[in-house]
This record gives sequence, C-alpha cells and structure tokens, in this order.
Amino acid sequence: MTIKELKIEDPYSIVDEINKSFAVPELECVFWCVSKNDSDSLDFYESRGFHKVVDIPADILKDHADRDDLVWFASLRGDQLSIPEAVAGCKVVKLQTIATMDSGELSFFEENSDIPFDIKRIYYISKVPEGKRRGFHAHKDLKQLLFCPYGRILLTLENKSGREEIELSDPSVGVIIETPTWREMTWLQKDSVLCVAASEFYSMDDYIRDYDEFKAYLS
Ligand code: TYD
Repeated sequence: MTIKELKIEDPYSIVDEINKSFAVPELECVFWCVSKNDSDSLDFYESRGFHKVVDIPADILKDHADRDDLVWFASLRGDQLSIPEAVAGCKVVKLQTIATMDSGELSFFEENSDIPFDIKRIYYISKVPEGKRRGFHAHKDLKQLLFCPYGRILLTLENKSGREEIELSDPSVGVIIETPTWREMTWLQKDSVLCVAASEFYSMDDYIRDYDEFKAYLS
C-alpha cells in the first residue's frame, strides 16, 4: 500500500493537497496530523468529515516521538472530499467512520442520534445495470437515510426547495430525506448498491408515483 504524509500549513488547503497527492495513480492513502491544542484546525477537519485514524505506522510515529499532542487524520483514495451541506434542502451527512490506513473504513449510524428518526426498515437495491434509472416517486411521510456503500449513484431530488443532484460514491456519505421529495437514481457504475434506512414499515399508500400528482401534493 502506497501512503504519503502531508505537511499542512493551512488547513483550508487540505482538499487541494489531497487531490494533488492522489494525482499519483498508485497512492492509496494520505495522512496528516494536527495538535489537539489547535482547536480551530481540529474543528475544521472534524466538521468537514475527515476521518481520524488510529493505525499510524510505528516508524512514522517515531519521527514524532517528542509529541504526545497529535491527532491523526487520513483520507483514502475515493473519499468524497467536497460534499455540500444539503441537496434540495435535504441534509447531506458524513456518517461516523472508523478509518484505518491499510484495512479500509467502518462507518455506522444509530437511530435518533446520528439520524433523526427511529429505523423500522433497511432495504437496498443491487444488481442494477450501469445507466439504469430507478425511483421516480416520492413519499408522503417516510423519512429515510440514503447512502451508497459500493459504487457510484447519481441521486436527483426535487421538493419545495427545488431540484438538485448529488453523486453518491463514498460509503461514509448519506442524504437524509425528511419531507416529501421526488427521487430519481441513476446507476453510474454497474453493481453499485443503494442502501436505505427508513422510519416506517413498507406501505404502498405512502408512495406518490405520478409526477404531476406529486407537484399538486406539494402546492
Ligand atoms: P420501489 O420503492 O418502487 O423501488 P425503486 O424506487 O427503486 O424503483 O420498490 C420496488 C418494488 O419493491 C415495489 O413493488 C415495492 C416493493 N417494495 C417492498 O415490497 N418493500 C419495500 O420495503 C420496498 C422499498 C419496496
């Protein structure tokens, strides 16, 4: 595994630094550290959803042996670095994630804390050919967290806030839908998986499948 330590002068340059580094094709992971006393930088990295790592190799820690105040972050190739706060008014969230440098990441969420509702149902859509589109409906009352644990899916959302799209490609990024929202999903990559945590059991009556009916429902 090819890794690289970043020297970060300005925390706000982190996305550029990471992108520049990943221009090297074989690089799989970049990592950097910040003093736990540098609360501005720490807050910035945490608020942007960068993942802390715990498995910094011993030979690297040796170079920083005089410091016991360091917090380590890493970004793995494929992390979505610039995510908007919202898409069509629906909150875009970075899920809690335990990152390692050489064994991938583990993301998780819990009902009523990480996401704002009870989870009654989990479903996922898989084995979809590339280019295929699904969805084309809204829900009246259902609340959902949508995320893509594998692959690349373009999510188009429309509601009172307008119509907007977001590409889901990072397993640690999710979108929370809490109000009636029309959704369309395009599979940008074969075998991508769309996973949904939902606030209610399945109910056919909660669906609006006709676009004009949805527009009328909103007004
Ligand atoms: P649907 O929500 O329309 O999927 P998509 O938006 O991807 O097109 O669901 C497809 C079918 O699956 C539909 O007949 C309803 C059924 N279904 C269930 O029976 N239970 C469920 O929990 C879900 C989500 C769907």
